[in-house]
Amino acid sequence: MSTVSPAQQEASVLDRLRALESEFLLQNYARYPIAIHRGKGCYAYDTAGKRYLDFITGIGVNALGHAHPRLVRAIREQAALLLHSSNLYYSEFQGPLAERLAKISGLQRTFFCNSGAESMEGAMKMIRAHGRKIHPEKYEIISLHNSFHGRTFGALSITGQEKYRKDFEPLLAGAKFVPPNDVAALEQAVSERTAGIVIEWIQGEGGIYPMSVEYARKARELATRYDALLVFDEIQCGVGRTGKYFAYQLADPVVLPDIMVAAKPLACGIPLGVVVANERAAESIAAGMHGSTFGGGPLACRVAIEFLDILEGLLPQIEKSGAYFRMKLEELQKRYSFIQEIRCHGLMVGVELSVPGKQIVLDAMQQGLLLNCTHETVLRFLPPYIVTQPEIDRAVRILNRVLKTAKSKPAA
Ligand SMILES: Cc1ncc(COP(=O)(O)O)c(C=O)c1O
Repeated sequence: MSTVSPAQQEASVLDRLRALESEFLLQNYARYPIAIHRGKGCYAYDTAGKRYLDFITGIGVNALGHAHPRLVRAIREQAALLLHSSNLYYSEFQGPLAERLAKISGLQRTFFCNSGAESMEGAMKMIRAHGRKIHPEKYEIISLHNSFHGRTFGALSITGQEKYRKDFEPLLAGAKFVPPNDVAALEQAVSERTAGIVIEWIQGEGGIYPMSVEYARKARELATRYDALLVFDEIQCGVGRTGKYFAYQLADPVVLPDIMVAAKPLACGIPLGVVVANERAAESIAAGMHGSTFGGGPLACRVAIEFLDILEGLLPQIEKSGAYFRMKLEELQKRYSFIQEIRCHGLMVGVELSVPGKQIVLDAMQQGLLLNCTHETVLRFLPPYIVTQPEIDRAVRILNRVLKTAKSKPAA
């Protein structure tokens, strides 16, 4: 009879995975000390079978939780039919998905790719090509301090955080950063040389900071006045996260960009990114100017169509669940003075602390709740859209226990 306990077994599985990764992987990630093996609904299970309430969903990807039966069926069926045919041929799913995206976004034409950064690259090439048609000196891209647009060279060049850029400079010429929500600074920065303005409607990695509607409208007005393209990065805040299809639809009337980029939850874990553009922006790209081998593959597009079918009915619930979560967090805020602010936009939630959040994330994980921490002091929650009130209650109970311990610990 084996005398090895499940906890010991898990430790050895984790130790083995850790040893392999430390020997054979580029050491670019600082991992939390678990390995997720499977998931069902709002729960994830590690390699030892321990259950976690998943309130980070792979950083906003698993929008329908784990193993949603309709997605599983679509994936199974499509895997048996066709995984890849390339963009040499017409696609059974790209046209229908693009039509759907046009309807829900208010824009017209889609380019399919595989990730957020790649969709940002596509948008940046459109900005450059658009500017170049007008004048060779029209190539500047204005973006915001504290923004995050991805890790590729182009996306990194317009990411407004020095810590991500500094090791790779010199980056793309023409990036210009302005403080968010500062209308006067934006007005001053935009000129005839501006080819594009790129904005995250709600900064995600930056700590869940929204743009004001006034600011977005000014950006729209300036982009139109100077014949520049306005791009909204909806990679984290879009595709249902706020209870609207896209965060720019929170404004009434809507502030429409020329280009919108989205990725993360779009195919719920199958890599898929999109650049969705109006006709004016789409004209910048002619045949042969851009492309992708994997972009818009049948599996990803079919899953995205299935997801959007489900999302339509879920949007009101996302808003309600977000409001409920906010109310529960505000109750916690009354109890813990180190909770400084709660920023909640549908199910995109940031809890700003006056103390570091890292240990809180680790303690919550220990107690069976997954979240993460951004910018040292912001607890970030991106729960699945299917989350229920009892699951929110459970998450808040765990958080309360963890915060109680944090409170009793002497300040570092
Ligand atoms: C707003 C935003 N833009 C771009 C990206 C980059 O996306 P990806 O990691 O899929 O390349 C992210 C990723 O976190 C993001 O949050």
